[in-house]
Amino acid sequence: MLDVPAPASALYEKVKRVIPPVEWPVFVDDIEAILALKRQRNAVILAHNYQTPEIFHCVADITGDSLALARKAAETEADVIVLAGVHFMAETAKLLNPGKTVLIPDMEAGCSLAESITPADVRLMRQRYPGAPVVTYVNTSAAVKAESDICCTSSNARAVVESLAVPRVIMLPDEYLAMNIAAETDVEIIAWKGHCEVHERFTPTDIRQLREGNPGVVVLAHPECPPEVVAEADFSGSTAAMSDYVGREKPACVVLLTECSMSDNVAVAHPEVDFVRPCNLCPHMKRITLANIRSALAENRHEVRIDPDIADAARRAVERMLAK
Ligand code: 13P
Ligand code: SF4
Repeated sequence: MLDVPAPASALYEKVKRVIPPVEWPVFVDDIEAILALKRQRNAVILAHNYQTPEIFHCVADITGDSLALARKAAETEADVIVLAGVHFMAETAKLLNPGKTVLIPDMEAGCSLAESITPADVRLMRQRYPGAPVVTYVNTSAAVKAESDICCTSSNARAVVESLAVPRVIMLPDEYLAMNIAAETDVEIIAWKGHCEVHERFTPTDIRQLREGNPGVVVLAHPECPPEVVAEADFSGSTAAMSDYVGREKPACVVLLTECSMSDNVAVAHPEVDFVRPCNLCPHMKRITLANIRSALAENRHEVRIDPDIADAARRAVERMLAK
């Protein structure tokens, strides 16, 4: 067993089930520097559930799904917010904190859903379906949010759709999330053809093979998975809902059909649960590292800025969601 330098040793106790001792020394210097920089700059780090365990468990102040990160971003009293996640999450934090410094450690941390749609596409959908309100998934640019009536996340999509009390809504841009919500509600949902490059790869055959190889395994699927995958899963919900499910139900054996780091992060708190781990990596989430979080805080980069002409309208769509 390698020596683990103090004071990081206390943190290592937390993550030792998912970070081998041989890897830990690589992280220690950056972790200690980040903890010191946060104090110096009165900064907080918000980390999405898909961040790697050394970020999620060792330097983040607030962790969660997209909805939790948006809510907590709106409440923080820090001067600086570092978003350990992807660009649309940092934009949402900036929309809710126009006067604060919001940093993303890598500007290229994008999202295939956000890339799938432009503001002009939203205007075309409105023309094609006059009168139908536009519900936009937070996995979009601020410019797309600005063309929308209200935002949603995978945690609250059905509640947001039904809160509008109309027979038909346009729901953008995730086709599968829209189809999965359509299966749960009487509201007619008009979808777009965007897909998450991570979740679209799971198939019903994967689930059947998992069940054959792991009798009794409980299958949890994110609602960005295709509807035929969600239909064969035992439970579907946002990343936070999947994590809560494991804590509540404590299945003996579970598989999370989602991004790879989720299982590591949830496993830390549940040593009694056996995690089967076929998963898909999100290359955008994986652009965020301890090294670039450290540079973000030390060099104040990369600052998220939103064109003031679109920020007000985009903020309204996010705030309407948060008010629900
Ligand atoms: P959650 O809101 O469920 O965390 O999902 C965000 C995301 O990007 C999933 O791919
Ligand atoms: Fe976007 Fe999918 Fe990555 Fe989530 S997992 S950030 S939806 S590409």
